Amino acid sequence: MTKSQLKTPAPFIASSKKTTVKIIPLKAKSFKSWKKKQDAALKAQIDQAGFSAQSGRFLFHYSSGGHLESILLGLSAKVSYYDIAPMVKEITARLSSSALKDLVFKVEQDNISADELLLLCVGWGWSCYSFDSYKKTKKGYPILVWPKGVDKAKAEGLVHSVCLIRNLVNTPANDMGPKELTAAARSVAKEGGAKIKVISDKDLKTDFPLVFTVGDSSERRPCLVDFVWGKETDPKVTLVGKGVCFDTGGLDLKPPRFMLQMKKDMGGAAHVLGLAALIMKTKLPIRLRVLIPAVENAVSGRAFRPRDVVKSRIGQTVELSDTDAEGRLILADAITLASEENPDLIMDFATLTGSARSALGYEIPACFTNNDKIAGDLKKISYEEEDQVWPLPLWKPYLKELNSDIADINNIGAGLGGAIHGGLFLETFLRDPKIDWVHLDIFSWEMSGKPGRTKGGADTGMRAAYAYLEKRFGKTKKTKKK
Ligand code: BES
Ligand code: ZN
Ligand code: ZN
Repeated sequence: MTKSQLKTPAPFIASSKKTTVKIIPLKAKSFKSWKKKQDAALKAQIDQAGFSAQSGRFLFHYSSGGHLESILLGLSAKVSYYDIAPMVKEITARLSSSALKDLVFKVEQDNISADELLLLCVGWGWSCYSFDSYKKTKKGYPILVWPKGVDKAKAEGLVHSVCLIRNLVNTPANDMGPKELTAAARSVAKEGGAKIKVISDKDLKTDFPLVFTVGDSSERRPCLVDFVWGKETDPKVTLVGKGVCFDTGGLDLKPPRFMLQMKKDMGGAAHVLGLAALIMKTKLPIRLRVLIPAVENAVSGRAFRPRDVVKSRIGQTVELSDTDAEGRLILADAITLASEENPDLIMDFATLTGSARSALGYEIPACFTNNDKIAGDLKKISYEEEDQVWPLPLWKPYLKELNSDIADINNIGAGLGGAIHGGLFLETFLRDPKIDWVHLDIFSWEMSGKPGRTKGGADTGMRAAYAYLEKRFGKTKKTKKK
């Protein structure tokens, strides 16, 4: 992994003397009256193309001299991030690389609010992404002149964070081991002005035995990344991300078709890095802490064995009945550490279970929390943010299914409900069970791909989490701590 492999699109410019193509955003309710005011040639083009002001529709309007003059863009009644994406895709496909360099695009702002423009800018940025660092041929992307009144930090932040997650997850595991993941964390911390430390070797072995046990199987040594940002007096929010750079399953080896996807098992870490970058860029008034246990779950003579028992940081002994349930092990010690300074909120992100996918499919992260109010708020806010998460219960009667004959707890549950077992297991590692804690069991991958959201590594729940934090801790709409 090199620095340039983590580069994200920067498709915005303050102003430009280049030839400008106008983008005219149109909503169904005002389209008729708008059309009446246009000249006969444009009206004819609209009719011929059967263009209507709906999401996914657009019309390239050429001058009589054959130059691209403007593009009509249909919008949803409630504007979506993705309204602009099919058009950006078409611009990139139709225009040559040199035309992309020679032109700039500018949105006509008459009938659209600053909040809606933000959605269009972000959608534009996401549509400019491609993971081409391993490809010989690379195409450019179209440049948009910043519309007036848009929150640039937020728009740029959302583009960067989402594309950073894509890059981190898409990078093959041979170039994204614990060392490279740590380097990425260092670069995010540096960019935002956070203070970072990395725990490894002997210190990791003594203080984070579960992280060490999983990571010890690999030549690529494990570590725990810990960075802190913001004012000490602001509400403390700690993000924990599962950084399993490749999950073979360990000695309980995964079958090929499941192992095939496992470069993405550091998706939780990618999420917390993306979210942290966004929080720092938009200067959310919180004291942020990021914890990433970074390991590879490998097969070797040093790999831990089914039914080994290890004493965790919190002191409870864990029977490691399945070496493929490794994510919860590394998170457990990190969650214990997080809870030691009694923060206002702990949020963890992890590609933890296949069971969460069976329940909710690829797109919807399962959300577990010990605070019902957070569950409700997050569910609602995530819908608004077009990044749905859905609550599942921390059903206490299932705790007994995690009983071990010889240790304090087992790392797998007997019976069904694997995602719930994962959540319940993690909860037992909070030093104080009253600390607000959210666990998001995520997929971190876009299966089919659509304009604005490439197939491959993807954000699932990161924006929902940001929107929640912004609402709860942001400057304008502050809500009290419970
Ligand atoms: N990384 C996997 C979970 C996973 C698999 C997430 C596929 C997304 C897609 C995790 O480490 C794992 O293997 N979990 C096991 C747990 C089981 C052994 C209790 C699972 O879900 O099968
Ligand atoms: Zn696993
Ligand atoms: Zn895993």
